[in-house]
Parts: sequence; C-alpha cells; structure tokens
Amino acid sequence: MGDERGAGRGGAGPTGGENDARLGISPDGVAGDATPGHARILAALAAARYHGFELDQEDFHNIGGGDVPSPAAIVEWLRDAGLWARAGRMNWRQVMKLTDPSPIVLLFNDGSAGLLTGVDPVERVAMVKDPRGRSSDLSVAVDELRLSEVWTGEVILVRKPRETSTEHDNFSIGWVFRRFLSEKRFVRDIAIASIVTSVLALIPPFLVMSVIDRVVVYGNQDTLVLLAMIWGAVVLYETVLEYARVDMVTLLAGRLDTKINLHVFNRLLGLSLDYFERHPAGEIHHRINQLYLVRLFFTGRMFDLVLDCFMLIVLIPVLFFMSSALAFVAVATAVIIMLIIVVFMPAMRRVTGQMVRAETRKSTHMVENIHGIRTIKSLAVEPQSKAEWDMRVADAADWRIQGGRIGNWPKTLVIPFDRFIQRGMILLGAYWLLSGTTTLDIGGLVAFVMLGGRLAAPLVSMSKMVQDQEELRLAIGEVGLVVNNPPESSSATSGLRPTIEGALNFENVTFSYRGQMAPALQDVSFSVPAGTMLGIVGKSGSGKSTIARLLQGINRDYSGFVKLDGNDLREINLRYLRRSLGVVLQDNFLFRGTIRDNIIAGRPGLTLEDAVRAARLAGAEEFVERMPGGYETFIQEGSSNLSGGQRQRLAIARALVTDPRLLILDEATSALDPESEALVNANLVRIGKGRTMVLITHRMSSLTECDLIVVMHQGKMLDIAPHRVLLERCAIYRQLWLQQNRHLDPQGTRHATPAPVPIEAD
Ligand SMILES: Nc1ncnc2c1ncn2[C@@H]1O[C@H](COP(=O)(O)OP(=O)(O)O)[C@@H](O)[C@H]1O
Ligand SMILES: [Mg+2]
Repeated sequence: MGDERGAGRGGAGPTGGENDARLGISPDGVAGDATPGHARILAALAAARYHGFELDQEDFHNIGGGDVPSPAAIVEWLRDAGLWARAGRMNWRQVMKLTDPSPIVLLFNDGSAGLLTGVDPVERVAMVKDPRGRSSDLSVAVDELRLSEVWTGEVILVRKPRETSTEHDNFSIGWVFRRFLSEKRFVRDIAIASIVTSVLALIPPFLVMSVIDRVVVYGNQDTLVLLAMIWGAVVLYETVLEYARVDMVTLLAGRLDTKINLHVFNRLLGLSLDYFERHPAGEIHHRINQLYLVRLFFTGRMFDLVLDCFMLIVLIPVLFFMSSALAFVAVATAVIIMLIIVVFMPAMRRVTGQMVRAETRKSTHMVENIHGIRTIKSLAVEPQSKAEWDMRVADAADWRIQGGRIGNWPKTLVIPFDRFIQRGMILLGAYWLLSGTTTLDIGGLVAFVMLGGRLAAPLVSMSKMVQDQEELRLAIGEVGLVVNNPPESSSATSGLRPTIEGALNFENVTFSYRGQMAPALQDVSFSVPAGTMLGIVGKSGSGKSTIARLLQGINRDYSGFVKLDGNDLREINLRYLRRSLGVVLQDNFLFRGTIRDNIIAGRPGLTLEDAVRAARLAGAEEFVERMPGGYETFIQEGSSNLSGGQRQRLAIARALVTDPRLLILDEATSALDPESEALVNANLVRIGKGRTMVLITHRMSSLTECDLIVVMHQGKMLDIAPHRVLLERCAIYRQLWLQQNRHLDPQGTRHATPAPVPIEAD
C-alpha cells in the first residue's frame, strides 16, 4: 500500500467557506446548513453507501469526535461498521493513477471534505463531489491547481471489507497455499523464470559436446569462436534472469510473510480471554513463534523445490532423446533414491513430531520462569526450577538426536546411488559405447553424464525437503492449535449498539467455569437503576470477580440473563460494550509510552484536556504534575518509575477518560498503600457521580457510601441493601464488617475501647 504514503502537498490554500466556492462544487443554500466537520461525516457516509453499507450518524457521536472529526475517528467509525477503511496521504500523481472506481474521501483545509468519484488521466482532472449536495448532483471536474488550494493531501480510503470470507478461516497449509496462489502475477513470473533457467541449464553440456565433437576432433577454430559467443550470451542471460528471479522470490516471500503475520495476529487477538487463561503464555508464545519456520520455508526451500521440479520435467525427456537406455538406467536409479526416502518418511514424521513437542515444553518452562522470576527467587526454588529445566532440555536433546540419527539413514543410503548417477554413468556409457550398444558419441556421452548428474541433485534435496515439509506442517499445526480456536464473537459488526445508561439486571444467573465442579455463580438475581453506586462484597472466591467478568462479556456461556438497560448483554456488540465500559482491576497493565498516551490509550477523538480531567478525577493529577515531564513523562518497561498507587490511579484515569456510563472497579484499591487508598476512596463518590459504578472490594470501609451492596457467599447472592440495613439483617455482612472494624461501632464512629462482638445489632 505504499502508494498512499507519498509526499502529500502542504495545505497552503486559503481557508474558510470560500474553498467550496472556488471549487464550484457547493450548490448554493445546501452547504449552509452543515458545518464543515459535518461534511466529513457525510462524505464517509456516502463512501460507505457506495459499498452498500448504511451507517448511522448517531454511532459516530458515540465514539466521541470533536467539532471537526479526525481522520482516525472516522476510520474507526467505518471499521466498526465492518468496512475496510484507512486514512493516509496521497499526491496528485497518485490520484491520477487510481483505477478503483470506489469513491475516496478527500479532507479539505477548512475541516470539510469532498468525495473523489473518479479521475480522468487524459484530461488530467479529478471528479469531485460535495457530500452536502443532493445525491443526484453531478461531480465537478477539478484540476491539480484548484484541488491543491483546498485539499490537505489527506484521504480516507473506504472499501468493502477485504477477504471477509478468509478472515475467519482456519490457519492451515491450505490457507497458506491459497494466499501463495493468489499472488498470480508473481507466481506466473517466477514460473516462467524457472522454466527458462532450467532450459538454459541444458545448454552448457551441449556446448561441451560440440567442443569435443566438432572443435577437438576436427580442429575447427571458427566453431570454437561461435561456441564461445553462445556460451557468453547464455551466461549473461542466466545472470540477469537469476537476479530477477531472486528479487521476485524475495518480494513474494515478504508479501506472504506480511499476510500470514497479519492473519495470525488478528486471529490471536480475536480469541477469548478464557483461552489465554487456560494456556500458559510460554506455550502460546512458542507456538506462534513457529511461524518463523513457515517464513524460512517460503523464502528459500520452497522455490528451490519448484525449480528442481521444473528441472526434472525438462531434463528427463532430453535424456531419453539422447539415449533411452542410459536414461532408463538413470531414472531407475533416481526412483530407487525416491523409494529410500519414502520408506523413512513415517519414522521421520513421528520423531519430528516428538521433537517439536519437546521443544514446546522446554520454552514453556522458560517463559513461565521469566514471568514468575520474582516468586521463584523469593521462594528460593531455583534448584527445583533448574532441575525441571534440565529434564526438559535433556528430553528435547534426546529427540533431536534421534531425529538426526533417523534422518541420517536415508541421507547415507542414497549416497551410492547418487554417486552412480553423478559419476558411474560414464563408466556404463563408455562400456556401451565400446560394445556398440549405444549410438552416442564421446561428446554426447560427456553431455549426458553432465545432464544426468543434475537428476540426482533435485532428488536428494527432495529427501531433505521431506523433513522440512514435515517441520512446516507441524509449525503450521502448532500455530493453528492456538489461532484456530473459535473467536470470541463471530464478527465485529454484529450485535446491538444501544445508548448505554447503566441500569443493571441479573436474572437467575448461573455460571460455572469450564472444568470446575461448583458453579462460580448460582441463581444470582438483582437489579439496580442507572446511576447506582453498587458495592459487591464477599469472601475471596465468592464470585465477585465473576460478576464483573460477565458484565464485560468475557464469559458468555451462563444461564439466565444479564441485562444492561433492559438489553440482553449477549446481544450487544462486544467491542461496543467493552469500549463503553470503564474497568479497573487489581493489577493493571500500562503500555510503554507517555502518561498521556496511557490515559488516552489510543481512543480516537480524545485530547490532553480529557486526560487531565480524568487524572484529576482519579486523584492522579498531583503526582503527574510533579513528574519531570508531566503528562509527557515516559513510562518505562514494567512501569518501574511509578509506585503501585500511582499506577493504579493512572489505570483509574484511563477507565474514566471516556466518561463511561458503567464503571467497574474490581479490587482496584485493595493492593494500595493506605495513603493512596484513602486518596482514591475519598474521590469515589465524585468518580461515581453520573454513572453506574460497580465497586468490588473486600475492604468494608470503602463500601459505606454505596447506594446498594450485594453480599456474595459461595457463588450465591445472600442479600442486597444499603450498608446500615445489611448490618441489621445480614449475618455474613456483619461478620465481615466486624472482622475489619472491631475498633469501630457499626455506625462508623470510633470507640474508646473495642466493641464486643454483635449482640446490639440483632
Ligand atoms: N478463570 C477461572 N477459571 C476457573 N475457575 C475460576 C476462574 N476464575 C475464578 N474461578 C473460580 O470461581 C470462583 C469464584 O471466583 P471469583 O469470582 O474470582 O471470586 P472473588 O472475586 O469473589 O474472589 C472461585 O471458586 C474460583 O476458583
Ligand atoms: Mg476477585
């Protein structure tokens, strides 16, 4: 897609409404009732409509663009609707070369936009349409100068979703080969180059033949000169062709590699969280890493194999033409070589499989240890870890040795036959020549042996291919084991996108984790209106986090209903749902990047002001401003330059920056030091204002401000009521409260002496 990245022109033209007048594409009176920014939305709408997608302008506002929507926000909106969209820059030259008739959105200096509906490279004009006009209006022809006055050089390309049918395809050898064959032009060119190279390779032996028969035997100098010229021409041609072939192979391999990587990562990101929880990161990492074998195969060996095959196809008829008896012997020997390889194939396949599995176990252990190094060191269990590692290394080495040994057999057994084809043939040929069995002359015999020698090389390299191909199959299988699991939701485009207010409703929700006997939630029912500050409390393992997970749509195979504003959660578009929620967990991941980037977290249409507002609300403002670079301070790998409390407050700011209607804090303050916790808790009421907040904690003191508190116990909901009521009537709640607040009386004021355990509350 390099053509979109060309040098865009600087937008030096005048700004304001006069732009449209200059272009003459704005029908009077129509442009007046739309702001320039609105024109961008209308242009995107029109471009989407061209592809049969009706977008809803309301959705756009939901994402939150400013007055003049940024290209990123528009692209996001289009992609959300399931279209392929991309923002980029173009120059006039590139515009003139466009062949795709689908309209392109041109962004103008004044914040408005036009729709490029076609180009006329002969007249050197672009057809541009005002999106604010009537759909029946015709496009206006605009030349380079006039367009450059208003156009920023930025474009938004919109297309039908590319490869919708393959996006959810499983990753397999078949998939890879289909991608390979879809590069028709490359495959054709490479095939032609390969055939020509094969044919050219036939010429030198015939030159040798002529030199022996014509030049040496008859002493003909002129023929020698002629042959030398032919030889020179062939070498030159071969050199050039080889350069072109390698160049094409490199390009094709690069393109394939890109496609494979995009596809695999897409599938990986689409997997459910559940999958990542059930499989060690090391295992996933190792499996995906096997992709390098696929790349290796496609960049090198596969093309060598293709070339070898062509060579055989060209070579065998020529050999038979020269001397069918000798050719028969040569081919028979070659078949023996093949048979030897085939016999060893099953054993090779088995051992290679074991080898790959042992390697997976090895790297799984390595990655797990790196992740858990803190714990391993503090528990001083390095020796155990090392012992385990030694075992896995030995296992992998064992299989590797076995694989090498088995692979050695066919390689060794073919040697005599290979040598026979390479050199022994000349003895047989000479014998037949002396006994008059063959019609070949001396030159012909030499040429035959030179050509026959080429028969063995492809076959021997094919014997190595068996192992390579086996490794490729396993590598693709390993990657497939990860990415071919069912994706989280079938499509990014399906599902409702309701405006979210925040009323929550659980109806007889029962849920068990896979492989777990006891249900994590059992017949849970409650409902709270929008704007509630809802606490969830209970002992550890009582199902609190599970409630949060269901709300985020992480686990969807529960029975009963979870409803958000009356809509079944399972019917809401998953991406839309997650983007509409704010979630803070106990341990949050901060990206490498500045504090500002981390708060905005790549969401379109948000500015520094939004980040500052969110940081203030989260109680992060004071420490951010004391940081050396303020909001531009770079957060290092593993966020080592932030304390736990600071990290947590940034995570809260990140959750708040979109001003979500539903905010979930799952033990968000539990790991904080008392001071940071007090800071966040003091802000809780302010944070929860104007939204539904689900506050999960085992710190009872944070809950007193909640409107309602759900008490969980062993997956069941015991009660739902405000703090004071629960103290009165819920024994478990009272017990939890008193465990943590013996020094307080239930009303929250300090006693001089510890209060006795509860008689008063009954
Ligand atoms: N990813 C998971 N896979 C399997 N079981 C889980 C998973 N997460 C939680 N559980 C189990 O579900 C129950 C409820 O867990 P959870 O909701 O995390 O409790 P809480 O947050 O109240 O401590 C526990 O018994 C726990 O062992
Ligand atoms: Mg929990």
